[in-house]
Amino acid sequence: MISTWFVEDILLEWEGKRVNHVIQAIGSSSTQKAQDFVKNNCPNQTPSVYGSYQELYDDPEVDIAYIGTPHAFHHRDCLEAINAGKNVLCEKSFTINAKQAREIFDAARKKNVYVAEAMWVRHRPLYQELSRLLHEQKIIGDVFRVFSDFANGADPASLPATSRHRDLSLGAGSLLDVGVYALTWGRMALGYQKELPQIVAKQTHEVGVEITTSAILQYSSGRQGICTCTSKALGAPGEVFLVVHGTNGYVEVEGRAASIPESFTVWKKQEGAADRAYFPREACEGKKYNFPQIGRGFVWEAENTALDILEGRKESRVMPWEETLYIMDLMDEIRAQGGTSYPGE
Ligand SMILES: NC(=O)c1ccc[n+]([C@@H]2O[C@H](COP(=O)([O-])OP(=O)(O)OC[C@H]3O[C@@H](n4cnc5c(N)ncnc54)[C@H](OP(=O)(O)O)[C@@H]3O)[C@@H](O)[C@H]2O)c1
Repeated sequence: MISTWFVEDILLEWEGKRVNHVIQAIGSSSTQKAQDFVKNNCPNQTPSVYGSYQELYDDPEVDIAYIGTPHAFHHRDCLEAINAGKNVLCEKSFTINAKQAREIFDAARKKNVYVAEAMWVRHRPLYQELSRLLHEQKIIGDVFRVFSDFANGADPASLPATSRHRDLSLGAGSLLDVGVYALTWGRMALGYQKELPQIVAKQTHEVGVEITTSAILQYSSGRQGICTCTSKALGAPGEVFLVVHGTNGYVEVEGRAASIPESFTVWKKQEGAADRAYFPREACEGKKYNFPQIGRGFVWEAENTALDILEGRKESRVMPWEETLYIMDLMDEIRAQGGTSYPGE
């Protein structure tokens, strides 16, 4: 699914586009599937078509491999690509656990290749602008509390046992699938704290798969993030998935899901409003910021990644290795408390 979306998006023409992407090769578990992929998703390109991933990694014409396999294979696929000397952009969640992520970054360091987690939401103009307003402009004062959620409706119990949402050996579970976004928004909204927070977390399981996670993160400053996710409910367009409370107002971020933000509204305490520790909406001025979607929203990630490579970087400016590790460390702790583990752990 995601590979089809990504390929369609990076071939889009859009105002402000700086990089011309070429689909140089498609690697799939079968040549037939790779041919079908080209026919359905990039019919105007003439990529080499391979019935294995290794052939793509070995193709000297390929500048960077985009990996869109289930979570449990990211570790293997990244290492194989890196060993062949390829730059890599790998889907979220980057790996099953932080140990695997560290092994990938060690390998990339040794091979001197670029590796980045495809956390596309961080590349979106909305995310960047909200971060600037919150932490550079301090538009709602000091942030002290954040709620973030992702409800994706995958509902593993209704899916075949072979689905990546149902099969633990593929890395099934709502935390790795969508909770990673709730943590990402929480991390940004709380201002990219250096320390790891104290965590209290609970997880619920159905048909052996984690379907709901709630985690409270608390920093030594007292700032709290409440980050939640579930595969048993589904967000709707325009719904609020993130609330950020500050000492001078609050922000609501709207969108179908935490991966597809559409707008945010800043509710700032009005001049002259009663001076108290809390303020109802009627004491606030609301200003909505809308952000137009281009394609499905992958264009900014693709563009930034290409520019990184062209500039000779080995890490993404937007999603550096330490950020991937920070989030993976959080997810390891949440899973340890919630009782979720994967085969081989
Ligand atoms: N950025 C986003 O918004 C977003 C959205 C959805 C998913 N994702 C991420 O993208 C990744 C893939 O998700 P998806 O929904 O695209 O998965 P998917 O539709 O199940 O596709 C995964 C692909 O991986 C390959 N694969 C290799 N071994 C496999 C195996 N044993 N079982 C199943 N597939 C196998 C298959 O391609 P071949 O057979 O052709 O090799 C398959 O088509 C995950 O990391 C997920 O979290 C990101």
